[in-house]
Amino acid sequence: MCAKRIKNLAVFASGKGSNFTALLLASEKKKINGKIVLLVSNREDAGALETARAHGIDCCVMDEKRFRSAEEYAGELKRKLESCQTDYILLAGYLKMIPVSVIRAFRERILNIHPALLPKFGGKGMYGLKVHEAVLEAGEKETGVTIHFVDEEYDHGPMIMQKKVRVHKGDTPETLQKRVLKQEHKLYPLAVKRLCEDRISVAGGRVVVR
Ligand code: GRF
Repeated sequence: MCAKRIKNLAVFASGKGSNFTALLLASEKKKINGKIVLLVSNREDAGALETARAHGIDCCVMDEKRFRSAEEYAGELKRKLESCQTDYILLAGYLKMIPVSVIRAFRERILNIHPALLPKFGGKGMYGLKVHEAVLEAGEKETGVTIHFVDEEYDHGPMIMQKKVRVHKGDTPETLQKRVLKQEHKLYPLAVKRLCEDRISVAGGRVVVR
């Protein structure tokens, strides 16, 4: 049987990038059949950029405001992704909407991780501690992690994997975030592992994992 081609992965991150680090370690330790070829950020001060540079990964800061139009920005982003022969885009705490033309060019090849059990506690404005605050305010007994394909709506697209996390009595948004994040660091590399082994597909809007 011939070995499967190593997939080229582009990670998008706006923040400290702990999920990016988890994916990077999994790739470097050859736990996934994928190589991170590009780190895209919209912020010059993103912690993920520092990590990427230290590991010799090609980095690109894409601030839409610096482009003359949305089309020019999307075109440049697409060109960059194509020049790295990107197979999959992995959103890891990326706080900007992906241009529709990029979503169409990479249909069912863009993943996102969300720190709650979607479809609950997702959508515009639901990021960072706000998610965990909302979970606690709603009195939920459990929350978790969701990994899904990206479509044109925020936190929407076909669901790939979920992992539940119990809410403890006395949890604060910070303690809950910490426990959820720990699971994120396990689940994202696992989902990407399966993806890079060609074990994840979409049929009739639903994900099939082999
Ligand atoms: C994570 O909670 C992720 O689920 C969400 O944004 C956060 C990013 O955290 N989309 P980090 O930058 O990977 O530490």
